Amino acid sequence: MKKIIITGGAGFIGSHVVRRFVNTYPGYEIINLDKLTYAGNLANLRDVEDAPNYRFVKGDIVDAGFIAGLFSRENPDAVIHLAAESHVDRSISSPIDFVMTNVVGTVNLLNAARNQWKGDYDSKRFYHVSTDEVYGTLGEEGLFTEETAYDPHSPYSASKASSDHFVRAYHDTYGLNTVISNCSNNYGSYHFPEKLIPLAINNIKNNKAVPVYGKGENIRDWLWVEDHARAIDLLFHKANPGDTYNIGGHNEWKNIDLIRLLCRIMDKKLDREEGTSENLIAFVADRAGHDLRYAIDSGKLQRELGWTPSLQFEEGLEKTVDWYLSNEEWLQDVTSGNYQEYYRKQYEG
Ligand code: NAD
Ligand code: DAU
Repeated sequence: MKKIIITGGAGFIGSHVVRRFVNTYPGYEIINLDKLTYAGNLANLRDVEDAPNYRFVKGDIVDAGFIAGLFSRENPDAVIHLAAESHVDRSISSPIDFVMTNVVGTVNLLNAARNQWKGDYDSKRFYHVSTDEVYGTLGEEGLFTEETAYDPHSPYSASKASSDHFVRAYHDTYGLNTVISNCSNNYGSYHFPEKLIPLAINNIKNNKAVPVYGKGENIRDWLWVEDHARAIDLLFHKANPGDTYNIGGHNEWKNIDLIRLLCRIMDKKLDREEGTSENLIAFVADRAGHDLRYAIDSGKLQRELGWTPSLQFEEGLEKTVDWYLSNEEWLQDVTSGNYQEYYRKQYEG
């Protein structure tokens, strides 16, 4: 029996992690702690919300008193920490929100774990979910390894880098049993349509321009979200205390090539003449401080724990498009209200 607090469980990756743990480990008690910001949505978890081993708690990780109270009431065995402000463009317009949630929120959780688990750190676990963006940007060659020096460029990646440093410091200073993983770009179902792939699917579906930053030459390494959740499950159970692992898809795509592939899939799925969706591509002003290339060496995870990505990208992308086209209500719900305002500010000046 294990009681695990999963933070950010109502978000994109968090909902896949919650679903995996609730379904795979009926003997575990899973508490989903989420503030339900614009990115958090309980509809992402409809299929497990009535499971006997699942509970939702609404709360803000920035509220230290609330977090301390929750830890003392629940006395969890472990934390899997995903709650974060996660969108780079939003971090450029409002960096302080990222400092509060990603840095202060993480330190609040570390403090609560440290106090609650004092004298018994070895049997507990604090798993921190982080990003490859902490490593900065690559040129045309090379891969990020676990030894690559941190070199963040956006307020988002700076806040995630800072949170990683705090997690490591709590292991080195107090002996907290921590694990950190740094993952590349995820894609799949329940991805909020401010991010490139779901935004493009939504716009193509609605015959709206598909904004490509700069010349579309930037490269990302895409991983199916359920493969990320599977890696988190493995590492949560098997990683050594204080260790760090990179997770990635070995799947690099230039943004423009990815968008062209997506356009072809959308033409096929929507029964449109080939080339129709590509006409929607619009090159727009580049993102400030835009990292050129991310690519992950996940050799350590593959060698030590036998993890490899399960899906080819073309297959995963097609599955993702199918999901969005058959979950119209979800897409409508998350793009009504505040999303419209965000979209206008970000793309229409
Ligand atoms: P998301 O934006 O979809 O979800 C974030 C969740 O955190 C939401 O449910 C939100 O309500 C919740 N949250 C935000 N602020 C909170 C607060 N103050 N208190 C409690 N809950 C709060 O994010 P995501 O894309 O699912 O990313 C999850 C984690 O994985 C993040 O830590 C992110 O840095 C990391 N990550 C994401 C990717 C990716 O490609 N999306 C890749 C690598 C790592
Ligand atoms: O690498 C992991 C990171 O991946 C995570 O830590 C972040 O939480 C996640 O948001 C993601 O960050 P990116 O900035 O890489 O993802 P995004 O979908 O915002 O952008 C992907 C690429 O597409 C990037 O080069 C910017 C570009 N882009 C993005 C948007 C939203 C466009 O060209 N047009 C757009 O409208």
